Amino acid sequence: MTALVSTRAGLQPYLDGFANGRRGVVMTMGALHEGHLELLRQARHDCDLVVATIFVNPLQFGPNEDFDRYPRTLDDDLKLCAEAGVDVAFAPSVDDVYPGGQPIVKVAPGPMGEVLEGEFRPGFFTGVLTVVNKLLNLTRPDAAFFGEKDAQQLALVRRMVLDLNMPVEIVGVPTVRDADGLAKSSRNRYLGSEERTIALSLSRALFAGRDAAAGGAGADAVRAAADAVLAEPVAAGRLSVDYLALVDPEDFSEVPPAFTGDAVLAMAARVGGTRLIDNVPLTLTVSSHPGAH
Ligand code: PAF
Repeated sequence: MTALVSTRAGLQPYLDGFANGRRGVVMTMGALHEGHLELLRQARHDCDLVVATIFVNPLQFGPNEDFDRYPRTLDDDLKLCAEAGVDVAFAPSVDDVYPGGQPIVKVAPGPMGEVLEGEFRPGFFTGVLTVVNKLLNLTRPDAAFFGEKDAQQLALVRRMVLDLNMPVEIVGVPTVRDADGLAKSSRNRYLGSEERTIALSLSRALFAGRDAAAGGAGADAVRAAADAVLAEPVAAGRLSVDYLALVDPEDFSEVPPAFTGDAVLAMAARVGGTRLIDNVPLTLTVSSHPGAH
């Protein structure tokens, strides 16, 4: 059974009870889906105590974003937590997480937080890193599990932990997809059935890029292969691409044409009123030379 606690004081006895065991945390904003379940299962496999946090963090939403309509499904979330063997669901109030009101001290993500998601969602990664830091302080885990679907978030959390000497292991868990390729996301609930079909363009484009890389294409040709899939829905006005980028997984800077090694092909796009992100890891074995493809 999963215990529901909503205050720091309520969480304390569980943490004390596992002081010598390995404690794991999975941070979520609720609206749990198969992707979260995979994180929870991994945590259950690796840890003696599993805490899932459920908190829709106001600090990471921009003024025109979906904070108010973000799905809040606590009863269903608790059932899924119980199925995944979660010991404690920690669903604090905004006042518990932000006891001083709007925080004055925040975690600055630096340049990696200003590109891609950071460019289109100013302040997003400051909000994410600040709340991740807070939730780590509140739950004091040995390990924290994050999805590779949010690849830039994962890279920034890893970097924060390194740069701030934080005593926690960060574990990345691969993206979970529907059978047709759509990456699991809480925001998929916003999609109507036609929109969902258009949304498949994201994974199709990324898979095309990944296949091109596997076939020996260089960086430019990988980008072009992904772009080609997006051309039609974009021209039809059904899809609006915020970015499609082939980046270095260490700092999320665009890789140059001659780059070889591990990279991440990442994109964000809007389908109707829904903004979706997705990415695939890939390996470039061949340099692109300008004009070669
Ligand atoms: O990935 C998310 O759901 C959120 O960004 C997180 C890590 C729970 C912080 O609010």
